[in-house]
Amino acid sequence: MWPDRRLTDLLHIDHPILQSPMAGAATAALAAEVSNAGGLGALGSAEMTPDQITSAVADLRGRTNQPFNLNFFVGDAPVTDPAVLARTRDRLRPWYATLGLGDPPETLPDLGPSFDETRLALLLDLRPAVVSFHFGLPPAPALAALKAAGILILSTATTVVEAQALEAAGIDAIIAQGYEAGGHRGSHQPTAPAQGVGTMALVPQIVDAVSLPVIAAGGIGDGRGIAAAFALGAAGVQMGTAFLSCPEAGTDPARRTLLARATETDTMMTDAVSGRSARAYRSAYATAMEATREPLPAFLQLYGLTDPMLEVGQDDVASFHLYGQAARLNRPLPATDLMRLLVAEARAVFRSLS
Ligand SMILES: Cc1cc2nc3c(=O)[nH]c(=O)nc-3n(C[C@H](O)[C@H](O)[C@H](O)COP(=O)(O)O)c2cc1C
Repeated sequence: MWPDRRLTDLLHIDHPILQSPMAGAATAALAAEVSNAGGLGALGSAEMTPDQITSAVADLRGRTNQPFNLNFFVGDAPVTDPAVLARTRDRLRPWYATLGLGDPPETLPDLGPSFDETRLALLLDLRPAVVSFHFGLPPAPALAALKAAGILILSTATTVVEAQALEAAGIDAIIAQGYEAGGHRGSHQPTAPAQGVGTMALVPQIVDAVSLPVIAAGGIGDGRGIAAAFALGAAGVQMGTAFLSCPEAGTDPARRTLLARATETDTMMTDAVSGRSARAYRSAYATAMEATREPLPAFLQLYGLTDPMLEVGQDDVASFHLYGQAARLNRPLPATDLMRLLVAEARAVFRSLS
């Protein structure tokens, strides 16, 4: 039924529907159900220790013998200018007071590079069928080692230039992530929250600029979106928000409640929580920080200041519930049923248009 079989043939899957590798929200159970239903399940491994990744992969392999994707962030060890830290602590002090917290922490976490030699060695040992990267790619020798091990490589592009750079690096398929997408923007360099191209505009321009299969991501919530992606020239889709309402997802109860009454205007793009632009539920803190933009601590280090605020649980004041603009389309179904429904809906649209 799929009008373009390049991705299904490449990944050895029945349906070109990739579940987004959502760090913190994708579970082994969710990924396995998606893979068993003919899609490509994924585990966002960016926030997991090597031991956690090893046991999650064992869990996954106990549930499925189908291909799955392990996903990692790419980036150097973050460094924050002390003056930026001091100024950000000043800006966060009133929010800490509102939330009944003490003074913001004086230091930021000391973090290494996001994807390192340990994780590369782990991947070469675990040998998932697919690995995907967010925020660019690791250095060429790491890519060469993954390729030599027969692991297929995907990465995200948010512009045509990024897609061309990914193709030149020799990866296997490109995820074109539009501005509607929930979660962090996978731009190869940090970008201001206001900067972004929607999926409808981005996908055909990337399709025209590269010869690799393109996977459309961002705001695809049902079979209509899937069919539309193929009309734009994509060979498949990656969907995250739609899977957040599945019982197998690790979605926290507060975000499930928000998703159940979501509208298309619930979310905003902000870098004031993590240090990089991400689409999440609109909070008073993010709104105020975006209205008075100033340099912020480096990506991932900023969590050292914002995590205490998120843990209080006052979602309208400060929260980081990542989801996209199409959340109103979510159906709270088991992943197997959702996959079946998505395929049936896409088939019906293809038929009605032909
Ligand atoms: C809760 C959540 C967490 C995400 N975490 C990751 C991640 O760890 N790695 C990644 O490559 N993309 C991540 N993304 C972005 C997705 O890969 C993808 O671009 C997005 O889900 C597509 O838009 P949609 O949510 O509208 O379907 C995340 C998205 C969401 C909603």
